[in-house]
Amino acid sequence: MLKTEILADDGISIARAAQILARGGTVAFPTETVYGLGADARNPCALEKIFEAKKRPYSNPLIVHFSHLSAAYELLTFNDLALRLAERFWPGPMTLLLPKRPSSPLDSLVAGNQSLVGIRIPSHPIAQRLLNECGQPLAAPSANLSNHVSPTQASHVLDDLDGRIDAIIDGGDCQWGLESTILWPKKNEIIRLRSGALTDSTVSNSLGIKPKALTGKNQPQTPGQHRQHYSPRAHLCINVRDFAENFVRIGFGDPSPNDDFNLSPRGDIEEAAVNLYALLRLADTKASQLGKSVIAIAPIPWGGLGTTINDRLTRAAEEKD
Ligand code: TXA
Ligand code: MG
Repeated sequence: MLKTEILADDGISIARAAQILARGGTVAFPTETVYGLGADARNPCALEKIFEAKKRPYSNPLIVHFSHLSAAYELLTFNDLALRLAERFWPGPMTLLLPKRPSSPLDSLVAGNQSLVGIRIPSHPIAQRLLNECGQPLAAPSANLSNHVSPTQASHVLDDLDGRIDAIIDGGDCQWGLESTILWPKKNEIIRLRSGALTDSTVSNSLGIKPKALTGKNQPQTPGQHRQHYSPRAHLCINVRDFAENFVRIGFGDPSPNDDFNLSPRGDIEEAAVNLYALLRLADTKASQLGKSVIAIAPIPWGGLGTTINDRLTRAAEEKD
């Protein structure tokens, strides 16, 4: 069992975090999407600690985070479309799948068995300062136990990983509350492997190319596409209009006295995204305190971030083994 250091958001803490990372340790840090669990992307022993702490299968690849585009450009091959996406949406909530350059020092563990590496440049000021201080790319999956709900606050990370990681930088709430959108820029088309905080319409309005969903034929396949993922511990029922008495209830819009929680009483989809994972965790705690086994959630409208929220809820609602 490790003693997990809780670091504040100041210069001394960032330097301490960078020192832990340089020695092959693990540090959770906030990004604009969710908290990530960082380790040196060149160091296999450090990467192994991520898999161990999260109880994550080694076959599930890790997103590598860079501070700026030129650092990423040195290690990965960008086609024209990748460069256009990078220049338009980085820093920000987008991950691109790109081939490694032969000389790249990124460890093979970051790509799992996949041929491409997922990389992104986060915009969060703490993530930026940490990456700059380290001067090295950091692999960082979401900082939760594998298959559990992603963390959007430092306390969520500690609930899952206290004693399993070296440190965490507490940077308050994450801005988006949903993970990055994962895109694979092919020659003339963009394949979306995971919906996320960057919506299809934002991409198509800007580049004139609408991302296409990954299909069975459209490899590479990613474990993020597994049906059950992002789950609370209680069973989740989605699209519930008539809540039964013995459910923990999460509403959306139309506040009701029967709601245990509401994602956004004014029906705002961005607010719902920010609150989603935090409320799933709170609902889970309430369910176990009250001896209830079901969390029921009201219908969420599709479109934009609503599509990402519905994607996550559908996966979370899959039957558990
Ligand atoms: O917003 C985010 O993307 C956050 C923050 C911390 O950056 N990270 C995150 O990482 O959500 P993670 O590991 O929880 O989810 C990344 C997903 C996984 O489903 C993984 O399988 C997929 O991306 N992935 C990563 N690298 C890949 C690759 N080289 N090929 C295919 N899929 C990949
Ligand atoms: Mg994750």
